[in-house]
Amino acid sequence: MKYDFTTMPDRSGKDALAVDAIGANVSWAIAPTAPKAGFSKIPMWVADMNFGTVPTIPQKIIQRAEHPLYGYYIPTDEYYDSIIRWHEQRNGVSGLCKRDIGYENGVLGCVSSAIQAFTAPGEKVLLHSPTYIGFTHVLEDTGRVAELSPLKKDDNGIWRMDYEDMDRRLRKNHIHLAILCSPHNPCGRVWTRDELEQAMEVFRRNDCIVISDEIWSDILLNGHKHIPTQSISDDAKKRTIAVYAPSKTFNLAGLIGSYHIVYDCYLRDRIMRQSAMSHYNAMNVLSMHALIGAYQPEGHR
Ligand SMILES: Cc1ncc(COP(=O)(O)O)c(C=O)c1O
Repeated sequence: MKYDFTTMPDRSGKDALAVDAIGANVSWAIAPTAPKAGFSKIPMWVADMNFGTVPTIPQKIIQRAEHPLYGYYIPTDEYYDSIIRWHEQRNGVSGLCKRDIGYENGVLGCVSSAIQAFTAPGEKVLLHSPTYIGFTHVLEDTGRVAELSPLKKDDNGIWRMDYEDMDRRLRKNHIHLAILCSPHNPCGRVWTRDELEQAMEVFRRNDCIVISDEIWSDILLNGHKHIPTQSISDDAKKRTIAVYAPSKTFNLAGLIGSYHIVYDCYLRDRIMRQSAMSHYNAMNVLSMHALIGAYQPEGHR
């Protein structure tokens, strides 16, 4: 199938936050002001895609919507199998089971649950800087404190982690929770296996649980390959809460629906309990079918 990534669709009037909120003075979003007369809106302030998604997504949604009952439902095996197949085929993951996968309304929702499950208010969490603003907001909203380990540009202008700095900050502040963004937003680094091994060794030495935000792992350019943090070692597999979503890759943020992969049952039970407490972390039946549509062979290309 041929995909069109170059036609600019007109999203105006189609409830797109990225477009319709510009200059709209909405109270719930920090939207840019309208451009001056003669200038066009460039919707780059929201991490949305500006191309139509893979046709199997609307197909699956429409197929389900045609059955006119939308009562309480259960996530199907097809949903879990789609995720398992996706990670097997794209990331070389083996042994992933339904049990290890947990629905999350959003990646940041999972980050928030994990922060609340594994730290106390006022406690520090290690992150790299520059930092994706969503992490900053979650830490502020949960009353936790960001301990920033600056990424450093090497002689070739490539952003690198500073393992000694990470180690020192973890030890000095008695930190036992870190957020790793892989690939990194905003630096765009796709961490290599060697880099992830070194980072995970620092986390192991400091008995630090790792939230690995891998939301961008499906959108890689120039032959880069995503290495799941959990694939680094048996220890990394146990100490990592990995978070994924089809929302960036397939422009599904408006339907809501992410998921975690957590192999360790202690970590998993604590997160599930934490996220259950709000009674808000629940999937939407059309969002389930959207993920199934996204993770079809057509979406794998
Ligand atoms: C690194 C990263 N994590 C999480 C999110 C937000 O994910 P969600 O909408 O699923 O909470 C974004 C959005 O841009 C992001 O860049």
